[in-house]
Amino acid sequence: MGIIDEVRPLKPAMVERRRDFHQHPELAFEEVRTAGIVAETLNGLGLEVQTGVGKTGVVGILEGAQDGPTLLIRADMDALPIHEETDADYTSKTAGKMHACGHDGHTTIALTAARLLNDRRAAIKGRVKFVFQPAEEIGEGAEAMIADGALDNPRPDFSIGLHLWNDLPVGTVGVTAGPSMSAAALFTITVTGSGGHGAQPHKTVDPIVAAAQIVSALQAIVSRNTDPLEAAVVTVGAINGGEAFNVIPPTVTLKGTIRTYRPEVEAMVYRRVHEIAEGVGQAMGCTVDTSIASMTKAVNNHPEVSERVREVAERVVGAQNVRTDVRTMGSEDVSLFMDDIPGCYFFVGSANAEHGLDAPHHHPAFDIDEESLVIGAAMLAEVAASYLID
Ligand code: NI
Repeated sequence: MGIIDEVRPLKPAMVERRRDFHQHPELAFEEVRTAGIVAETLNGLGLEVQTGVGKTGVVGILEGAQDGPTLLIRADMDALPIHEETDADYTSKTAGKMHACGHDGHTTIALTAARLLNDRRAAIKGRVKFVFQPAEEIGEGAEAMIADGALDNPRPDFSIGLHLWNDLPVGTVGVTAGPSMSAAALFTITVTGSGGHGAQPHKTVDPIVAAAQIVSALQAIVSRNTDPLEAAVVTVGAINGGEAFNVIPPTVTLKGTIRTYRPEVEAMVYRRVHEIAEGVGQAMGCTVDTSIASMTKAVNNHPEVSERVREVAERVVGAQNVRTDVRTMGSEDVSLFMDDIPGCYFFVGSANAEHGLDAPHHHPAFDIDEESLVIGAAMLAEVAASYLID
């Protein structure tokens, strides 16, 4: 019996487990209950388990009967500070916290893959390193786990992971070779003039007018400086300055994000944000301080690993249901687990519009078609088997 046939009967247990995680969401680095269940489940299977890796992260090693390569399988565990507005009977029991990105499903899927592969331990040549990551939503969990040695002893030879994806209908899988999720950076631009009375602007240097010009001018980076065939986003997400209707404030702060696929484009955008903010600010008589902090690298799927995942997806959901052009300017710190380890991060369709299960990720009404749990577990286990079992 193939793995795909073995997952099907596990669906009720997967649904139950996912709904339990869903009812008990935990925010970044607070995944104590979730990590406890993960560790207990992996221990129960007989895996070698390490807890407290990157604060609340868990690593489990499934050692095969014979030696061979190490495959890393990564799942994330954290929820979001969103108040759930679904009418599901498994809705979040914690006001203001919600699994609105599907990480409850990711954790469930990886635990099920561990069980499926553990049943085949005698045939496995090599090992699987399961990495249950905290704090993906704040982009800090992967870094914390790697700092605690998650990529050492043994160092993985390959790396895979998945995201349940409501941009795709359930029953489809998206596998895209090359860049598929973007690098993310956070920028802060502080514009300083000199404040004063709103009725006497000539006695001030108005940082609000300068900041407005900077916001407009930044739009030219994507439209005029970026190769039209490359991907880039520059978004100003926050403007803070002033409080009273008749006062010109001394300072305005802009915060935003930069998203890119390629390092050359990223470097160009960083340079232009500095030049535009500082140049426009100076032209308006203000001084400008710009800082840009890189948050994550792009997810750049390795061609050979992606090809293998694609072949498996064709077996699991049928060739007509495999998409090879699914990309997003969203970001994922799974990129750190795949940075210099050949890897593939793929998308498992989880939307079902007919049943109202198609709200976007991070939306208060987000929910998934739970058939995606079955497909996800089959995908992870089948890809692992293709690397580790003859
Ligand atoms: Ni997510």
